[in-house]
Amino acid sequence: MSTKKIVIDPITRIEGHLRAEVEVDEDGVVQEAYVSGQLFRGIEVILKGRDPRDAGLLAGRICGVCTNVHFRAAITSVEDAYKIEPPKNAQIIRDLITMALFIQDHVVHFYHLHSLDFVDVTSALQADPKLTSKEADKYSDHPFRNSDTHYEAVLTKLQNFVKAGKLGPFNNGYWGHKDYRLNPEQNLILISHYLEALEFQATMGKAVAIFGAKSSHPQTQVVGGVTSVADMLNPQRLNDYLFVIKEAKEFINRAYLPDMKIIASAYRDEMKAGLGRANGNFLCVGGYEFEDDQRLFCNGVIYGHDFSKIEEFDESLISEEIDRAWYSGEGRANEVCYTDLNEDGSLKTAKNDDKYSWIKAPRYDGKTMETGPLARILISYSKDNQLIKSFVDEFLNETDLELIDLSSTVGRNCARAIETNYICEYIFKLVSRLIQNIKYYDTETWTKYDFNSLEKSAKGRAFFEVPRGVLSHFVNIENEKIGNYSVIAPTTWNASPKNFDGKRGAYEEALVGIKIEDTSKPLEVLRVLHSFDPCLACAVHVIDAKGRELSSYKIKTL
Ligand code: NI
Repeated sequence: MSTKKIVIDPITRIEGHLRAEVEVDEDGVVQEAYVSGQLFRGIEVILKGRDPRDAGLLAGRICGVCTNVHFRAAITSVEDAYKIEPPKNAQIIRDLITMALFIQDHVVHFYHLHSLDFVDVTSALQADPKLTSKEADKYSDHPFRNSDTHYEAVLTKLQNFVKAGKLGPFNNGYWGHKDYRLNPEQNLILISHYLEALEFQATMGKAVAIFGAKSSHPQTQVVGGVTSVADMLNPQRLNDYLFVIKEAKEFINRAYLPDMKIIASAYRDEMKAGLGRANGNFLCVGGYEFEDDQRLFCNGVIYGHDFSKIEEFDESLISEEIDRAWYSGEGRANEVCYTDLNEDGSLKTAKNDDKYSWIKAPRYDGKTMETGPLARILISYSKDNQLIKSFVDEFLNETDLELIDLSSTVGRNCARAIETNYICEYIFKLVSRLIQNIKYYDTETWTKYDFNSLEKSAKGRAFFEVPRGVLSHFVNIENEKIGNYSVIAPTTWNASPKNFDGKRGAYEEALVGIKIEDTSKPLEVLRVLHSFDPCLACAVHVIDAKGRELSSYKIKTL
């Protein structure tokens, strides 16, 4: 059987630099996949020798998108090392910043990084604005900005892009690909929301900045608590924050969720067939306390899609494999060990110990895990989490889908949209809790400590659920300085390479078995990878098994 290799490098509309090489058979079905992180981060090296109290500000620079969550995890790992417990109000303020980021991240991911894998811009140009508003009525009782004149305006804007010879952000798609299944009117609805979501992105930035002082790099978290005391005590600031969340909820309920229903309906057969499913192992560390016995997310581990048996998460079962990653050494103190590519520029993957990625391979009890909104929904729902159950049931009932169908490319997106919706509800509850505390004169935002009296050497760690999945930071403080620092980010789990025993990472598992209709337009590969919301930042090369370049595409950055 002859195989052909398809290389996509870089994968665009993500953060960072990701490369995928897939081997397809004569029918275009993926037989093997190699996913490679092409960017060395090295922030851990920068953190060494620094004052532990600065860990948050430095770690926040790991990423331009996930700023707050690294900031927070670093501060929390230092607090864990020093056994400093921040006051409840500080935890709530931190949650309010993080939750605003979840909403912003999920909406931006779907519309700006992923929706064009399902939405054909050129088809939208054929839409009838009057029919478009009728189409939107099928998926929502009150569709967002649903009028003939609005859709006429969106269509005119799109036509002006084309007349000017520039599609702007819609340049260089696989337009006309036969697996674009939405009708012209549905495509116009989603394009309209794509444009609205650009405004949304800025609005959510305001919510982050109200308590974070700045977006995208918040400034207000310190070891022991937060500094945004004046904002917390100012009713106008709380109102401003709630106003943004109410606006967000309108968009989520009237645009984002209905759009997911359109896509779920068009790709129903793929969801039912589990297309883009990984190996069925899911991990969630839980978190975001609401009341003593209630958490927004339940911790747990699922093996092989067995939703009836959820094991408790145990951090001692995490290992990091580096056999196939460009590192050497033992434990977390690894040396960089880059091995060159093949002569044709492809990844070295022929032998079992060939190294091909800057991403290490975290494993749980030796197994590959998927982390993210899908894992959180499956685990929390199966553990009967009352905060989220009704939201999941409502979506599944309205789409006539089952829980298992969410374990698919399209399902991952549905899970993300459902999660965005219930996070809004959770935020309202959190704000009322904060107001209650303040009302009863609990205004503490910082736990006082004397740095000189703290242990000179200590170890700490922090585990958080963040928009893309499980994030963990580990700090080793030696003589009042950071001796060693280590991060396992959600994409480290999902985009991990194979390990010593040949087990694939979650992206690789999800790619194997999918069928690529047109190897010169590997849209199906992009869909699977984008559905995980990779955070790793433009030409696409396609070569055959002998390394000959078949075609090449230049994609401009936004
Ligand atoms: Ni990131």
